[in-house]
Order: sequence, then C-alpha cells, then structure tokens
Amino acid sequence: MCTSGLRSARTLATTSHSGETAKRVSATSRAVKDSRSTRMSLVLAKSVEVTPRAREAGGMTSRLGFGALHLTDCGWGPPRDRDAAVALLRLAVDLGVDLIDTADSYGLGANEELIADALHPYAGVTVATKAGQSRPGPGEWVPLGRPEYLRQQAELSLRRLRVERIDLFYLHRVDPAVPLADQVGALARLREEGKIDRIGLSEVDVPTLEAAREIVEISAVQNKYSSDDRTWQPVLDHCAATGIDFVPWRPIPRADAAVAKVAAELGVAPAPVALAWLLARSPVVRPIPGTTSPAHLRENLGAEHLDLTAGQLDLITRGTT
Ligand SMILES: NC(=O)c1ccc[n+]([C@@H]2O[C@H](COP(=O)([O-])OP(=O)(O)OC[C@H]3O[C@@H](n4cnc5c(N)ncnc54)[C@H](OP(=O)(O)O)[C@@H]3O)[C@@H](O)[C@H]2O)c1
Repeated sequence: MCTSGLRSARTLATTSHSGETAKRVSATSRAVKDSRSTRMSLVLAKSVEVTPRAREAGGMTSRLGFGALHLTDCGWGPPRDRDAAVALLRLAVDLGVDLIDTADSYGLGANEELIADALHPYAGVTVATKAGQSRPGPGEWVPLGRPEYLRQQAELSLRRLRVERIDLFYLHRVDPAVPLADQVGALARLREEGKIDRIGLSEVDVPTLEAAREIVEISAVQNKYSSDDRTWQPVLDHCAATGIDFVPWRPIPRADAAVAKVAAELGVAPAPVALAWLLARSPVVRPIPGTTSPAHLRENLGAEHLDLTAGQLDLITRGTT
C-alpha cells in the first residue's frame, strides 16, 4: 500500500461559485439540500452530474484538487497505462480541477513528467510539487531535508514540469536531522530567486508551522486528514484562523459508518459524501483525492454539488450512526 500556485481557498471559494453556469448541475440535485424525504433524496442525488467544459470558457474551478500519486504505480514505477493516465489528467482539468498534486518522489520523477506530457503549458492549472522525501526503495519514504538536496530536487522538478517557476513547492517532510531553519530557509532562497512561487509544508504540527512562518510566508499545509482520521484537527483550525490553505491528503476514509449511512440515505457513493463533509469543514480546505478511474473522478467531483444537511454533517462529525 502506498503511504507516503495554489490559489487561496478564499479566492477559490469565490470563483468556484461564480462559474456555476459552466458546469451542468442538475437542477434536481439542488433539491437534495432542501428535501427531508429520504426517497426524494435518493432519486435526486443520483442525478448529480458533472460534465466537461472547455477551459477557455474560463471562470469555473473546483475546490477539489487531484492527487496524482497513484498514476505512477503506487508512487514508484512509471504509469501502468500512460495513455489512460494522460486522458484522466486532462479529464480532471476539463471537469474544472485547477490544482494537481505531485512530488519529485512519485515514480522517481515519472509522475511530474506524466503531468507535463498531459497538461503543459498548464493554462491556469496550478501544479503543486514537493521535495524532502528520498526513495531508497519501493514503499520506502525517508525524509531528507538537507538544503543542497532540496535545491537539487527543485531544479529537477522545474526541468521535468518544463516551467521556470513552480507554483507551489512543499517541504514533503520535516527532516528531524536537519534544523528546520535550514530546510525552510532553502525554500525561502528558491522563492527569492523566483524558482518557486508559493511555499507549503506537509505533516507539520502548529508549533512547526509557526516556526516556519517566522522565516517565510507559508501558503499551504498538506496533512493527512479525513472524516475517520482527524489527528491534525488543531492544524486545520490554525490554518482556518490564519488563512492558510489546508490540503488534506488521503481525504477519502477507508471505512466510516456515518459516511456510509448518509451516502445510503442519499443514494450516492460514500466518497463524495466524505469529500462534501470535508469541504464544509472550512473554506480553507482543499482536498486532493486521487484516483485512477474516470468514474471515480466524476463521482468525487460531484461532492461539490452535494449540499449535506446540518443533521448529516453533524452525524459525520460526531462519527455516530
Ligand atoms: N503529503 C503527503 O505526505 C502525501 C501522502 C500521500 C498522498 N499525498 C497526496 O494526496 C493524494 C491523495 O491521497 P491518497 O491517494 O493517499 O488518498 P485518497 O485520494 O483518499 O485515496 C486514493 C484511493 O481511493 C480510491 N478512490 C478514489 N476515489 C474513489 C471513489 N470515488 N470510490 C472508491 N474509491 C475511490 C482510489 O482507487 P481508484 O484508483 O480505484 O479510484 C485509491 O485507491 C495523493 O495522490 C498525493 O498527491 C500526499
């Protein structure tokens, strides 16, 4: 099993609602919000549909990003089906996704190359990448935060993504063997030189985030978070209070009885319900679900049109069935 620039969420929240006409959302889906009839909800929720549109029409973006990790064979090898992976990335963008998440270490660079092949010159799509995890073998992820290594990896990402500046560059892990100031300082220098635009951190607690913010502006935090794993809730709260994007990875719970109950009530799959709950947590939340399946991609993006009732949100928040 795999373990492992962002437009601000506030800006995005505005734009994601401004282009509603570009997205065909069944009028009946909106009725889900108001209906208290389970039978009615069942019928209506199934009709939530997201259809492609031309990006050049502009204005329509999704709060959901796309996590590309699994496109390159569990983060180690090249894509199993390159054409299908390219088509999926393009479909995501056609459906309104404007944030693609990758890392230097996914597929040992193959993931970034795939994204460049599919989407370069990106046309308004933010590609977020990361450095700071070495890959001595499949399934192994070892933090490596020496400044010269972070700089080398940024240079390689620039080359593979075929850009002069990386939109959003995360420190993938804080390396406990290297002073935080050296790691974040390396990213700050890359930013000063114009090689990266915004800076993010991954898997950090609040004190580490605040220590980093003493050195340089931090635009995003990418921590593991979902309805069934809220370990990082204090970090989400802190991001919400300070206006930093909170980007949950592994946003789809593996088994959440409350999510399953609400999904059954609405007659939809559990994944979009879990994602809709995440979106409702705070406007700074930008989940990056990953999939290799066009059907799952469409299903996940449907989360933006699932207006869960206060009762449904509360049920999932309390985690009781
Ligand atoms: N910062 C970090 O340390 C870190 C760590 C891990 C991941 N990430 C990033 O976060 C992204 C997401 O994390 P993740 O891939 O671990 O977790 P995830 O997106 O929550 O889960 C991906 C898994 O869920 C399945 N899935 C997706 N949509 C589904 C649906 N509608 N119904 C049923 N199953 C569905 C996928 O299978 P199918 O392919 O069959 O749909 C895949 O096995 C990654 O792509 C990566 O960019 C970051």
